[in-house]
Amino acid sequence: MKRKYPNLSKPIKIGNVYFRNRMFGAPMGGTDITADCTIGPKSTAFYELRAKGGAANVTVSELVVHPETEASHMFHLDLKTVNSLASFTYTADAIRRHGAIASVELSHSGQYAGTYLIDREKKQDIAQWGPTKGIRSDGRPVKELTEELIQDIVIAYGEKAALAKRAGFEMVMIHGGHGWLINQFLSPYFNKRKDQYGGCLENRTRFAREIIKSIRKAVGPGFPIEFRLSGSELFTGGYDLKEGVHIAQLIEKEIDLLHVSAGTYHRGFGKTHPSMFLPHGPNVHMAKEIKKQLSIPVAVVGGLNDPEKMEEIIASGKADVVVMARALLADHELPKKIMMNQDDKIIRCLRCFTCMSERAETSTRRCTVNPMIGREMDGLEIVKAAKKKKVLIVGAGPGGLQAAVTAARRGHEVILCEKSDEVGGILVGEQALSFKYEMYRLGVTLGRIARDEHVDIRLNTTVDQAYAEKENADVVIVAAGSKPFLPAIEGLDQDHVFFVNEYHHKLHQINDPVVVLGGGLAGCEIALHLSMEGKEVNLIEMNDELAPDANIRHRPLLLTEIETSPMKIFKNHFGIAVFQNGVVCKNKAGEEVLIKGKTIICAAGQTPRRQVVEQLADAAPVVVAIGDCAKVSNITTAIYQGHHAGMDA
Ligand SMILES: Cc1cc2nc3c(=O)[nH]c(=O)nc-3n(C[C@H](O)[C@H](O)[C@H](O)COP(=O)(O)O)c2cc1C
Repeated sequence: MKRKYPNLSKPIKIGNVYFRNRMFGAPMGGTDITADCTIGPKSTAFYELRAKGGAANVTVSELVVHPETEASHMFHLDLKTVNSLASFTYTADAIRRHGAIASVELSHSGQYAGTYLIDREKKQDIAQWGPTKGIRSDGRPVKELTEELIQDIVIAYGEKAALAKRAGFEMVMIHGGHGWLINQFLSPYFNKRKDQYGGCLENRTRFAREIIKSIRKAVGPGFPIEFRLSGSELFTGGYDLKEGVHIAQLIEKEIDLLHVSAGTYHRGFGKTHPSMFLPHGPNVHMAKEIKKQLSIPVAVVGGLNDPEKMEEIIASGKADVVVMARALLADHELPKKIMMNQDDKIIRCLRCFTCMSERAETSTRRCTVNPMIGREMDGLEIVKAAKKKKVLIVGAGPGGLQAAVTAARRGHEVILCEKSDEVGGILVGEQALSFKYEMYRLGVTLGRIARDEHVDIRLNTTVDQAYAEKENADVVIVAAGSKPFLPAIEGLDQDHVFFVNEYHHKLHQINDPVVVLGGGLAGCEIALHLSMEGKEVNLIEMNDELAPDANIRHRPLLLTEIETSPMKIFKNHFGIAVFQNGVVCKNKAGEEVLIKGKTIICAAGQTPRRQVVEQLADAAPVVVAIGDCAKVSNITTAIYQGHHAGMDA
């Protein structure tokens, strides 16, 4: 077979271990870690899914090496507690039985201990230890690690690596990046020590080198040790790429794979987990520079999800391995699809941060576009239905498309009707916003998969009761979506006013200055996009908060982009009337002010298409309403409800 992506598909030997391809699974935290520090069955199933999907390795994370000085998370994995080793063994098995190499990340968060804790009260007395005494940005004191404690930690790394090996892990990753303890030692910003662990680069890398030695002694030669390094800390006062290259050179001796990430927790998540406002693969240039100076293989992580780009990275020698976190949540079968030349069926990560925010807020795992994630044990795998049914789906937005794909995969006859001339629904408009393009692509990809699954897609087709009855379907799934909410503002019916969802049709009708009416997520994103395009933008919000409907990880990044853009923001301004030259608003003081604008974009929210649901209530023996037409929500809800409507049909 001629592989479309021969370089990504090529095996690689690292240490004494063969990996089946060049696509590695990055560490992705732990949920379902029990109070006695075992990996619960849900987490094991979570890791196993990635191994089944074809990744060459799967990295289990949050093995806290030295709980005495550390607690980055509420519970940690600790091989010293009863059953912890057993749970590790089951997890390693679950990964290995699908041909992937099981790896475990050894970590210590140093002064960031306790940052993530959900149960903050219980752990208030946790000590934060770092290379240097100081005060953390949240006011918590940081104690300086003594040389004795440093040695204890160094030894602990070796002990934990040996136990991981005993549990069946065939590789370890040292977390030396993202501002965690080892990174704190490497960093001139955090490390102000005057002893042999501080000052020059030789000294700042000493802790890392001692850890590597301790692990090597414990696991023996040939056992792959991967070192995750931030190529640059990406903030003033931290180390830059030039120093990152030197650090890599100083530590390469006893390691087998240098893994290049970037950024630090100190500056939030937008760089360590490249947000949608960054290009894909922002760390590739760093990997390339580092690789030039090393003689061991180099891996790169960060915003990678495009097969062509990843193939080029390997083919051109910028890195030897590509590592993915979120892309393998969005589609755990991404490596398999690449190997099978089915890359056009890959569901790409949206970089929406649902995964990160869900984990922080509810301690569960969730992915907007993959209903399996976090629910691997819930029997969601598609099996053929016992009886073939006829399923009529109304609306080809994300929910309708997902329902169609799932129902078709279950063997049903599926008709998908869409009143417009293309599939995607609300996602279609996202094509005009550069940082939301993946959302548009999601609709296109689901449409392609639906066609491949022989879904009868009927565009320009409105379904009413008569139409549905003529089709005589067993099940009707109503996925009619939502329409823009019309606020009680005079003058919205004028030609220079349009709704945010129509923007992609009006690209050539935008005149400066633009007023965006409504500072929710949709309003903020269109305002930011227009501002990035160089338009003069005035954003009006009647409350004093922007984008309260954005998730907790995406929101701060969006707000930072907005704050650093030239747009003008008018909070606590209540729109009253639209005129040719702008919008008259009432401000907090009760005064009427004119906010100038030649084009007015209304982004006041959405309202469900309830009428369609009601019209079709008796259209078939089983009628189900999903997504926005049932209740205005988000893509995650639409996709989940679509999948389950397809499963239940
Ligand atoms: C839900 C989630 C949890 C993560 N947990 C960890 C972790 O425990 N340790 C770690 O080193 N990185 C962790 N990361 C960071 C990833 O390993 C990766 O570096 C980052 O997401 C960038 O890669 P991506 O753009 O492919 O997602 C996590 C990422 C996500 C999305």
